[in-house]
Amino acid sequence: LDRCDGIEFDAITVDEKGIPYFFKGDHLWKGFYAHAELSNATFHELDDQHHLGHVDAAFRMHNPDRHKHHDHSDEHGDQYHDHVLFFMDDKVFIYDDHNLEKGFPKEIRGVFPGIPSHLDAAVECPKDECETDSVLFFKGDKVYHFEIEKKEAHEEDWAHLPNCTSAFRWLGHYYCFHGHEFTKFNPVTGKVTGNYPKDARDFFMKCPKFAKDSDHTEREKCSRVHLDDITSDDAGNIYAFRGHYYLHRAPDNKTWKAHPINDTWKEIHSDVDTVFSYNNNLYMIKGNQVYVYSTGEKQSLLDGYPKPVSEELGIKGHVDVAFVCNNAHVLYVIQGNKMHEVDLQSHPREKGTEYKLPFQHIDAGTCGSDGVKIMEGSYFYQYESPRLMATSRILPVKHTISVELFGCDH
Ligand SMILES: *[C@@H]1O[C@H](CO)[C@@H](O)[C@H](O)[C@H]1NC(C)=O
Ligand SMILES: *[C@@H]1O[C@H](CO)[C@@H](O)[C@H](O)[C@H]1NC(C)=O
Ligand SMILES: *[C@@H]1O[C@H](CO)[C@@H](O)[C@H](O)[C@H]1NC(C)=O
Ligand SMILES: *[C@@H]1O[C@H](CO)[C@@H](O)[C@H](O)[C@H]1NC(C)=O
Repeated sequence: LDRCDGIEFDAITVDEKGIPYFFKGDHLWKGFYAHAELSNATFHELDDQHHLGHVDAAFRMHNPDRHKHHDHSDEHGDQYHDHVLFFMDDKVFIYDDHNLEKGFPKEIRGVFPGIPSHLDAAVECPKDECETDSVLFFKGDKVYHFEIEKKEAHEEDWAHLPNCTSAFRWLGHYYCFHGHEFTKFNPVTGKVTGNYPKDARDFFMKCPKFAKDSDHTEREKCSRVHLDDITSDDAGNIYAFRGHYYLHRAPDNKTWKAHPINDTWKEIHSDVDTVFSYNNNLYMIKGNQVYVYSTGEKQSLLDGYPKPVSEELGIKGHVDVAFVCNNAHVLYVIQGNKMHEVDLQSHPREKGTEYKLPFQHIDAGTCGSDGVKIMEGSYFYQYESPRLMATSRILPVKHTISVELFGCDH
């Protein structure tokens, strides 16, 4: 199964850690770019107890506020916090950290009175986004708004919305998936604003090819797929790389524009591991090779490149992220949860001070006059300096890459 072929998903949810799970038949994709795997490998009882090859609907019950008080009373309906719920036929399965809760599966109508069996989709809607902590259930052209505390279901009249085969809440937005497309809707009014439907492959998965009419700039600005890397050159151009494309923003210009990587750096073609700029050159690392390009009007590969990363930079193993801050001569190299310095003025280059990072894995990073930006999945975090990042024990405010960095409007 390849989700880049345009799959209609049965269900989409996030797990307890916030990783998106996409379900189709007996398969499951974790995140926005992994391959399909069998869902019974992760959720054993889904199969054992029901002998069913698919999930009708799924969502995560999550409310950060409620974490503060450990209220496990049944009356408040909040005993399933951070649990993932699956719906199959007339049954609901509740998982806590990938283990089926005792007493489950149960009948849907017992746990969610007023909600029919054989659902198409479900999505949670926490207080602040809905008036009360709620769940939206979808079946055919019917939508039910279920208030968790009151245990009450109201039917909504949202005839304009397509029949959703799965529904997903991501970065505080609500998406109805239908076919290989999706439509964003307001969870209170059901209203759709903007140009929908859009192709799910453009925004929620990493595919090598896109629809013919895909707007490259919009897609790259709004994609939830992690960036391969981001850097700014000495002149102030910013480049953000993902797959076969990069987004560019010229100095003193607020507009981002996407281009194919091979239009500008044809030897790289696609999928860089990391990029940094130093001494008016752009260093691009892909696999164990480093490509050095002159910057300016024409970006050309310097003579003698590519060269092995170990030879050029004295680094062994896969490089996740590398950056230089403010024309300094220190390269910060991130590999897994470790960062080390390399003095770019010394020859041969050697591994300098090493730091342990408060992150397990980083996709992209850049450093400039406003400090360090570290990117993980759809989010970025900002620190004053690389050293403060390494010694900080508190995660700073989480920003969304699509909205706050690229100004995506959906
Ligand atoms: C998981 O599902 C596959 C295909 O649906 C089946 O062949 C396999 O036996 C199942 N594995 C377990 C552990 O249930
Ligand atoms: C939507 O669901 C209704 C049943 O609730 C069905 O009659 C209708 O054909 C469906 N529409 C589409 C486009 O599938
Ligand atoms: C800013 O960048 C955009 C996209 O590359 C370009 O179309 C536009 O002409 C630029 N504006 C100025 C004032 O240079
Ligand atoms: C760049 O890559 C795209 C997509 O892979 C391809 O269609 C195009 O022909 C390539 N262009 C060049 C100049 O190689």
